[in-house]
Amino acid sequence: MTDRLILTLAILGGTGNEGPGLAYRWAQAGYHVIIGSRSSEKAAGVAADLNARLERDFVDAMLNADAAKACDIAILTVPYAAQRATLEPLKDLLSGKLLVNVTVPLDTENVAGVRMPPAGSAAQEAQEILGDAVSVTAAFQAVSHIHLRQDGPIASDVLVCGDSDAAKEQTLQLVAAAGLTGWDAGPLQNSVVAEGLVAVLIGINKRYKIKSAGIRITGEQAPT
Ligand SMILES: NC(=O)c1ccc[n+]([C@@H]2O[C@H](COP(=O)([O-])OP(=O)(O)OC[C@H]3O[C@@H](n4cnc5c(N)ncnc54)[C@H](OP(=O)(O)O)[C@@H]3O)[C@@H](O)[C@H]2O)c1
Repeated sequence: MTDRLILTLAILGGTGNEGPGLAYRWAQAGYHVIIGSRSSEKAAGVAADLNARLERDFVDAMLNADAAKACDIAILTVPYAAQRATLEPLKDLLSGKLLVNVTVPLDTENVAGVRMPPAGSAAQEAQEILGDAVSVTAAFQAVSHIHLRQDGPIASDVLVCGDSDAAKEQTLQLVAAAGLTGWDAGPLQNSVVAEGLVAVLIGINKRYKIKSAGIRITGEQAPT
């Protein structure tokens, strides 16, 4: 980690739906954001669009490996089927860093049914791939790109799971910077719940014709 004032965030697979939404909000909050991709041209196009909307050059574009090398914190936003192939070549480049995993292991044949991978969750599998030198957290799974790309508050909270308190604290700061309320939701093994919730929300969207349902933690603060 670093004590530089402006942190650099690399969004690996940042050219799809979720990546640019997160990039937009973090760049607005003052972070230096790199859009990572398998294609320099594709990344450059997304970064140019974001900078035009932001009216300042806070977003850069790189190949995933260069972005992983240049960043302080990496965020993974690829389809689950692409997670292993994306992360394996980046293991050494991410050593000593935090990877925030947004990837959801959806069952492509029934996206409203929970189906978790043998490791337990996508985030646990990412930790296995990257090894102990990388801190993995799981977050943002239930936040739709549709909300992220709009301005203003988002009516959905974020569960943050991870085995390192420091990594969870950094992730919670990113959640707040994106304009959301985050909750420390326990160890990385609990990401099975956060990731599984997405299938439940997709089913609710379909059943009740809701656009991008989210979650909210309720309750009253106990007096101290
Ligand atoms: N969309 C949402 O609202 C949302 C919300 C919460 C969580 N998520 C989760 O976040 C992740 C990303 O979602 P998304 O909708 O942004 O996905 P996406 O648009 O389908 O893909 C994101 C990027 O992943 C890279 N990618 C795609 N296939 C790949 C492959 N076979 N190998 C390597 N890279 C590949 C591509 O980047 P390049 O071609 O530039 O390399 C693509 O632009 C998913 O796991 C999803 O479940 C999505």
